[in-house]
Order: sequence, then C-alpha cells, then structure tokens
Amino acid sequence: MKFVELIATRNPLQKKAMNSFLSDQDEDFWSSAEQFSKGLLEVLAKKGIDPSYIADSYVKMCRNMLSQQVAFKRSGSYTCAHPEDAYESVYSSESEMSSYMYGLALSQFLWANHYALFRFYKDICSRSPSIRNYLEIGPGHGLFLIEAMRLLPDARFTAIDISPVSLRISQEFVGHFAQGRECVFRVQDARSIAAEQYDFISMCEVLEHLDETMPMLRKLHRMTAPGGRVFITTCANCPAIDHTYLYDSVGHIQRELNDAGFVILEDLPLAVGDVPEYLWETRREEINYAAWLARAEDMSRA
Ligand SMILES: C[S@@+](CC[C@H](N)C(=O)[O-])C[C@H]1O[C@@H](n2cnc3c(N)ncnc32)[C@H](O)[C@@H]1O
Repeated sequence: MKFVELIATRNPLQKKAMNSFLSDQDEDFWSSAEQFSKGLLEVLAKKGIDPSYIADSYVKMCRNMLSQQVAFKRSGSYTCAHPEDAYESVYSSESEMSSYMYGLALSQFLWANHYALFRFYKDICSRSPSIRNYLEIGPGHGLFLIEAMRLLPDARFTAIDISPVSLRISQEFVGHFAQGRECVFRVQDARSIAAEQYDFISMCEVLEHLDETMPMLRKLHRMTAPGGRVFITTCANCPAIDHTYLYDSVGHIQRELNDAGFVILEDLPLAVGDVPEYLWETRREEINYAAWLARAEDMSRA
C-alpha cells in the first residue's frame, strides 16, 4: 500500500504500529486494502490532490487522538462539550473535516479494531441480501456505505450527514467505488430526521458525537421497520476532537441499546490496549464496540 510507505517516512512510531498489524493480515485483507488504496489514488488524481496529503492527514489525526487521550487521562472527560462546538470547529470546516475523514478512511485498514469492525459489518451485510431500504447516518468517508452498496443488490440507499464536507467525500467515494449504484445524499442532522422507516439502518461512530444518546436511540427504534435491523458502532472512553457523549463501559452502551427497545443479536467489543476483559470496566479501558440489533417486539413475537 502506497500510503503505508508515505506514513512510515513521516512517523517512525506509526511505522512500528502499522508493521505489527500488517504483518499478521491474510489475503482477503490485502486484496481489499490494495483495491481501496488504488481507488483512492485514482480519486485523488482526478481531484489533483497529492497522495502525501492523505499521509499527512492520517498522521495529524493520530497526533490529535494522542493529545486527546492525554487530556482524558487527566480529566476523565472529553474536551468537546457540545455537538455545536464540534460543528463549528470540525464538521463545517473544509480543511479540518476533509483531513479527518481521509485519515479515518485509512485507519479502517491500519488499525486492528477498525478493520475488525469493518469486517464484522461486511459479514452482516453479506448475510442480509434481501434488504430493500437502507439508511446510513454519518457515512463520513463512505467506506461502510460502499460495502453495503456492493453487498445489498436490491436495496435503495439514503445517506445523511451533518457535515457537508463528509457528505461530499462520501459521494465522491461512492461515485468511484460503487459506480452505477444510486444513493440519495442529504446534509442533515440525525437528531432532526423524520421517523421514516427502513429495514436496515447503519450508524457507525456517531452516537459518541451527540449530546444525548437516548432520544436518538429511541428514534432509531421507531425508524426500524418491523423485522428490520440496525448496525451500530460506537466507543467507550475514546476521546477525540469531536466526541461529546462519554460511554464509560461496554455495559453502559448495552444498557442504552436495551432501554431503547433493541435486542442485541450479535456484538463485538474490542479493547484498544492488550488488557484482559475483566479489567476493562475498573480501568476505564478504551473500547471499540459494534452491535447488530433487532426490535425487541419482533423477537418476542418470533
Ligand atoms: C467519526 S465519523 C464516522 C464515519 C464512518 N461512519 C465510520 O464509522 O468511520 C462521524 C460522522 O458522523 C457525522 N455526524 C456527527 N454528528 C452527526 C449528527 N448529529 N447527524 C448526522 N451526522 C453526524 C460526522 O459529520 C461524521 O461524518
């Protein structure tokens, strides 16, 4: 992958972390990573952007995360207090959001946990071929959306994002990687979305960007068609420049999903560090989390 070399020359610490992850990967990984890397180079060439911009974006995102982690260790809280502040300084800023989303897209293939969540998602999509009506909230860079478009042949797609910058990047990626497929893209705050129903809703890494999560989760429940499914990823104790809602444990996330009326069909909690699970809660470990959800009322009828 071209981007690995570019990042390695910029940051020796990242070089070490990347090599340790990449040296363990199988053919399946390399085929999708190389396909993504080649496609991304083509998208950049069309836009006249030098690939080094993407490597710089990734390094900047890692540096931001590191400084947020240091602040979180000291204070136990996130530095960004309100979604409106995140909108002001990140989502609406062409330079901040664009480098953030390109960096995040690379992390999907460079961080063990992000790749595991991505693979879990692809697996779920490949087991859901009859989906007709798909909504994605906060596609960001669009990589999850592209996989859904590839794996759900009969679905109609809608994607909403609060950030016009994210939405444009998602649109460009979809235009390149999912040519010939249609998607309705809307700049919209998920908190104000009308409760139309969908049979598959995907909301990855968005909950932790809200001020309150329960109203959004209850709305998601109302938006899930009978027999429909929801795929969610979020994280606990994971500071970032635009994270506002602090989940402090896996149990905290699971309780909210259940309280909103969902049954967790499958989930994937992953610690960022190499710490045994029984210590996660007391040490407030940083966790990535994904869940595949159904409405509780559908399960009780089954
Ligand atoms: C961290 S990115 C996640 C991108 C991608 N879904 C992923 O999992 O990597 C969060 C995305 O959610 C969007 N977002 C944050 N708050 C939102 C809200 N209230 N409504 C809609 N989108 C929101 C951001 O603009 C951004 O594109």
